[in-house]
Amino acid sequence: MIKPIYLDYNGTTPHAPEVVAAMRPFLEVEFGNPSSSHWYGITPKQAVESARKQVAGILNCRPQELFFTSGGTESNNHAITGTLRALRARGNHIITSAFEHPAVLEVCRFLEKDGFETTFLPVTADGLVEPAEVEKAIRPTTIMITIMHANNEVGTIQPIAHISRIAKEHRIVLHTDAAQSVGKIPTDVQDLDVDLLSVAGHKVYAPKGIGALYVRPPLKPEKFCHGAGQERGWRAGTENVLEIVGLGKACEVAARDLQRNMVHMQRLRDQLQEGLFAKLSDARLNGHSVKRLPNTLSLSFKRVEANRILEEIGLEVAASAGAACHSDTVEISHVLEAMKVPREWAKGTLRFSVGRMNTAEEIDRAIEIVTRAVKKLRKEKQ
Ligand SMILES: Cc1ncc(COP(=O)(O)O)c(C=O)c1O
Repeated sequence: MIKPIYLDYNGTTPHAPEVVAAMRPFLEVEFGNPSSSHWYGITPKQAVESARKQVAGILNCRPQELFFTSGGTESNNHAITGTLRALRARGNHIITSAFEHPAVLEVCRFLEKDGFETTFLPVTADGLVEPAEVEKAIRPTTIMITIMHANNEVGTIQPIAHISRIAKEHRIVLHTDAAQSVGKIPTDVQDLDVDLLSVAGHKVYAPKGIGALYVRPPLKPEKFCHGAGQERGWRAGTENVLEIVGLGKACEVAARDLQRNMVHMQRLRDQLQEGLFAKLSDARLNGHSVKRLPNTLSLSFKRVEANRILEEIGLEVAASAGAACHSDTVEISHVLEAMKVPREWAKGTLRFSVGRMNTAEEIDRAIEIVTRAVKKLRKEKQ
């Protein structure tokens, strides 16, 4: 069976071969509990600590400044809920953008039931959060700002270091959801100057269900998951040794190959973008043309519906839709809504996200397949 060309690396990534090799002993032999003081606990404990160093390497932080979680969603929940609860005496206001992943938006909405207040900042037409808007939204009660590093749908990269300067001036904690940026662009917590940063393993060629949260001392978010004292008391629960090892290796490989992968991804992404623009009329790019993840391409095609294109190409190309059209309604993604992409465009939005394993030949084929599908569907509509 020939599998469809995979162009959905922002959705999830395959496991890197080095990740599989690093994990294998922990699947087959090393079953010990890292908290055990006997012989079986020794190798798993060392493996967890060495993975922590590997993740710290890609973030340029100290290993003891991060702990492992079950993924990007948990890291965001812990960062936001834990910080707001810890700093409640100082205020109750959080600033975020209307453009975030649900793993941030829904946390903020949930916390509103607890008396916290949220400002959801608008974004520009190309998806940028303007630092001046952040500054304007600050109140005496603002205790936290959370703005994603890079957007999962359109790839826009936010001016985190600039927002950080504003946060610092006002003594406000800054968190960034870096689920999409780790391994795709530099994610140095010193350069970004953030207090908290979320990592999601399955976007960086590690397994699903593993992540990490960086916390800059002396910040101490309230505990999120209560129980025994694993992860130096930050996060209770026996460690997911297998996947922690996988995340560590994935980060080591991603840091080692970052420059090469950025060039590779951008070359293929641009090939796809140029090819589709050359062959199809009435197409537009969503997101910032330059301040964008090197692998992400969100395109809108007029006079076609995204899910119809995906049905048409589904056996040959795997991509994702920015809008879901039902018989009489169209659900446009909150990201496109926030960027005010006109409905007649938003309806036909596809997100392509390339990755390490893609080749130029695959991109050429994908251009042909998508072009054929869009032309066919437009013809049928006439
Ligand atoms: C920007 C962003 N944040 C958070 C998440 C959630 O991460 P996880 O799937 O590891 O819970 C995702 C996953 O799609 C994401 O793209």
